[in-house]
Amino acid sequence: MFTRRDVWKLTDEDPWHPILLWYARAVGELQSRDGTDFSDPTCWRYLAEIHGTEIDRSRWPAGATWDECDHGSWFFLSWHRVYLHYFEKVVRQAVRDLGGPADQWALPYWDYSDPRRPGTRMLPPAFREAVLPGGGRNPLRIDQRDPDLNDGTRGLLEDSVDIHEAMLERDFAGVQGRPSFGGGAVARRWHGGRFPGTLEVVPHGLVHNDVAGIDGWMGAFETAARDPVFWVHHANVDRLWEMWLAQGSGRVNPPDSAWLGMPFTIGQGAPAVTLAARDVLDTRASPLEYEYESVALPAPAPGTFASIRTEAAPPAERMRMRDDTPPEMIGASEQPVPLATAPSYVDVTVVEPTLRGPALRGENAVPRMFLRVENVQGRLPAAPGYAVYVNLPEGANPAAHPERRVGTVSTFGVREASGGGEHGGDGLTFAFDITDVAQRLQREGDWEPRRLRITFTPLAARRGLVLRGQAESDLTVGRVSVYAE
Ligand code: C2O
Repeated sequence: MFTRRDVWKLTDEDPWHPILLWYARAVGELQSRDGTDFSDPTCWRYLAEIHGTEIDRSRWPAGATWDECDHGSWFFLSWHRVYLHYFEKVVRQAVRDLGGPADQWALPYWDYSDPRRPGTRMLPPAFREAVLPGGGRNPLRIDQRDPDLNDGTRGLLEDSVDIHEAMLERDFAGVQGRPSFGGGAVARRWHGGRFPGTLEVVPHGLVHNDVAGIDGWMGAFETAARDPVFWVHHANVDRLWEMWLAQGSGRVNPPDSAWLGMPFTIGQGAPAVTLAARDVLDTRASPLEYEYESVALPAPAPGTFASIRTEAAPPAERMRMRDDTPPEMIGASEQPVPLATAPSYVDVTVVEPTLRGPALRGENAVPRMFLRVENVQGRLPAAPGYAVYVNLPEGANPAAHPERRVGTVSTFGVREASGGGEHGGDGLTFAFDITDVAQRLQREGDWEPRRLRITFTPLAARRGLVLRGQAESDLTVGRVSVYAE
């Protein structure tokens, strides 16, 4: 059994803890296997091209399964778990080949989300130093990242690392457009899927964009896995899956065979694996055999939108309808909404819901409301993400109204899901539960039942991480729709 350890706890023991030093040496070894034809399936670039590639199909090694990462669907977590397992095996073998402590080596994770340890939002020094102890280039340091993060001038934005938005989700699978932890339930795998679960958005997507800055490798499917930070970030995302399940209260993996049985083949030759979700649900069992150093859920920072929502955690009786009953659409916007460097908003006219749900169930259930931000498209985002608010008063400072925030949109993966590219489609669609905010505003007498205003504010503008100017950016929301059940 291997323990995947917290990269900052390792760093506190020793910035070049053997786990980190051997990670660096092994990455260097795998990079030294990169030839021009990528024929060694354990070379660094081969491993990264599995996730996404810019290399034309005609130049792929025979039999390669590249360009396969699952995003925007409920296969996101299971595919990446298998991918990480394969990567960990290959790195461990490289540590062994180099005469290192392979029996102790497991992939560390970057836990950036504990508000009591704000220093953990910094990139650990092992990923920033130019030179290894004892000399030689440090393979964990690359220049294709946001320069301020890379030189230790700043840490990840607080907004990027929130985990509570995802932890509050009740359902793993998004069915009929409902909000979910793990992504939309779809029948087939698709590299450019459209329905990311909340975990895939934040912290996952925002941390990608935050590390990448304007054009770093972490910002695109094709290049992300070339950054050694990708792997410690994804070990954390994988750990967050365990933490979500550990909360209980009905939080379980999907029982559907379409999800459990979907096979993922990673790699080629001797180290290749073919595994489905059902083979990797217990990380302690073979073939994975790892556990995380900690799966404790930190409390959110007081006064943040995450803490306000956590306090208002949904009562158990608020149940969703059965999966085969579509939620009732009670309003939708008529014009696309731009997402740029300044806040933008759209008004939605809402009709009275018939609320068949509680009546059909014959219970005193609290009606649930949710929002879909549909078809977010574009190639040139101005910000790493957008905060989404309901009924923000005209001219109000959004930061002063965390109680009206309903969630976050990330621009990671938008380009890949938009029209024009190889995997092009209709963009990404995000779903948000707004029941708590609606109930609070109703109680406070601040609720207009026939109209909702949805406001989008760029996450990082006030902190300086602006990716592009207003004129250059081209992101739009196709439609905002409102549902009740
Ligand atoms: Cu497949 Cu974090 O990306």
